[in-house]
Amino acid sequence: MTLVPLVEDDLPFVRDVYNYFTAHTMVVYYFDPIDVEEVRTFLPVGDPHYHSFIIRTDAGERAGFCFYHPWNTRPAYRISVEITVYLAPGFEGRGLGPQAMDALEEDIRRNGYRNIVAIIDGGNAASAHMVEKCGYRRCGVIRNVAQKNGQLLSSLIYQKELVP
Ligand SMILES: CC(C)(COP(=O)(O)OP(=O)(O)OC[C@H]1O[C@@H](n2cnc3c(N)ncnc32)[C@H](O)[C@@H]1OP(=O)(O)O)[C@@H](O)C(=O)NCCC(=O)NCCS
Repeated sequence: MTLVPLVEDDLPFVRDVYNYFTAHTMVVYYFDPIDVEEVRTFLPVGDPHYHSFIIRTDAGERAGFCFYHPWNTRPAYRISVEITVYLAPGFEGRGLGPQAMDALEEDIRRNGYRNIVAIIDGGNAASAHMVEKCGYRRCGVIRNVAQKNGQLLSSLIYQKELVP
């Protein structure tokens, strides 16, 4: 597995992965398919401070993407980032997610950040298991904070402090 910097041409792939999980799961909090312009509102491309990557298998397949962006835009929060990792359908369950998390963390450390935050839907057991395995600590639950298809959803908040 390698992380390759994500470029403009990858945005339709990102859109398609989001739209798959929007339609088939509760882990994405959109109701309807999104377009590339919407992807640009949250995924940094070519930003010097916040990076996005394609997750490539050793065979060169585009298996997913991951990125980090500001946890909060107020200046005092500049020491912290929020991460996101998605595998395309068919690439789950073979360890690519945790490997991508570790590689992403290396890039975040190189850029001098102090905290990584991950927000996970309360029903996303695979994702919660993955971040715990990668050393994240659960520091909160916001109960029934979202609603999709009539179902109330809770958000789990995870943190990893990058102290030497
Ligand atoms: C979540 C995701 C990134 C995990 O990556 P992955 O490569 O599939 O992860 P792995 O195969 O290493 O599985 C991680 C661990 O979770 C476990 N796991 C898998 N499904 C599980 C489930 N439903 N409940 C509990 N644990 C589960 C695996 O057994 C594994 O544990 P182990 O390493 O101790 O054996 C990936 O499955 C994915 O992209 N899913 C869809 C999108 C998504 O939910 N993204 C995260 C949004 S916050």
